[in-house]
Amino acid sequence: MPPLPTPLWSSVSPEFTLPPGEVHVWRAELDVAAKTLAELRELLDEAERARADRFLRAEDRLRFTAARGLLRRLLGWYLQRPPQKIAFAYGPQGRPELADPAPGAGLSFNLSHSGEIVLIAFARDRAVGVDVEALRAPVDEAALARRYFRPEESARLAALPEAERRREFFRLWTRKEALLKAKGLGVSGIAVAPEADPEFLTMSLELEEGYAAALAYRRPEARLGLFRWV
Ligand SMILES: CC(C)(COP(=O)(O)OP(=O)(O)OC[C@H]1O[C@@H](n2cnc3c(N)ncnc32)[C@H](O)[C@@H]1OP(=O)(O)O)[C@@H](O)C(=O)NCCC(=O)NCCS
Repeated sequence: MPPLPTPLWSSVSPEFTLPPGEVHVWRAELDVAAKTLAELRELLDEAERARADRFLRAEDRLRFTAARGLLRRLLGWYLQRPPQKIAFAYGPQGRPELADPAPGAGLSFNLSHSGEIVLIAFARDRAVGVDVEALRAPVDEAALARRYFRPEESARLAALPEAERRREFFRLWTRKEALLKAKGLGVSGIAVAPEADPEFLTMSLELEEGYAAALAYRRPEARLGLFRWV
């Protein structure tokens, strides 16, 4: 098998095998053409279409549909199954997983979308979590940090010059979210400390200006493939 491309958002088509010891992250833009969107909607099951239709804002409807459709396409490739035939089950905190894991024994995935970007992480032999945040709307970083971060993290943030504070806030926020998502926890797990977790590795992912992103996966260290859907 050829080596994986170097960890950059590569448009090189990888071999669609995912051996143990590798973690793949895909990124795609959500503003897909109407024709592509219609094709992606065709891949969704009834419950997903109903969920899409419940979004009040057209923008949210389109993004959910595009992200789920793309998730199904990629899962279809990794599992060698028709994307429409894939069934999901939901963990106690709403984490989607494969309902019938047998054909893809151990395939774990996680998805995040924000702004125009969706990231989807996959691994064969371990739990993964991913988070992306578009840094568009102004947020009160200090207040959120006081509420969600540990006191020492919040204090470290408060001591930073304003220009750096926002970037550092989102760096930490996305890492915590990715870790929570890898663990399948909801808000209950906000005290997680990504830099000191004995079971999971967490890292920031480079995206263009205006976005922050992070990946978390169960140790040990894996080979990372970062791919761009074009
Ligand atoms: C539910 C939660 C996943 C929300 O994440 P978000 O940033 O709003 O949205 P994202 O786009 O990153 O992730 C949503 C996707 O993750 C997946 N997901 C949903 N619940 C999940 C869970 N408990 N664990 C892992 N993945 C989950 C789904 O695929 C979902 O996509 P879908 O709605 O299109 O099906 C979860 O992270 C949460 O409750 N977070 C707590 C918020 C908080 O207090 N954070 C503090 C951080 S310091």
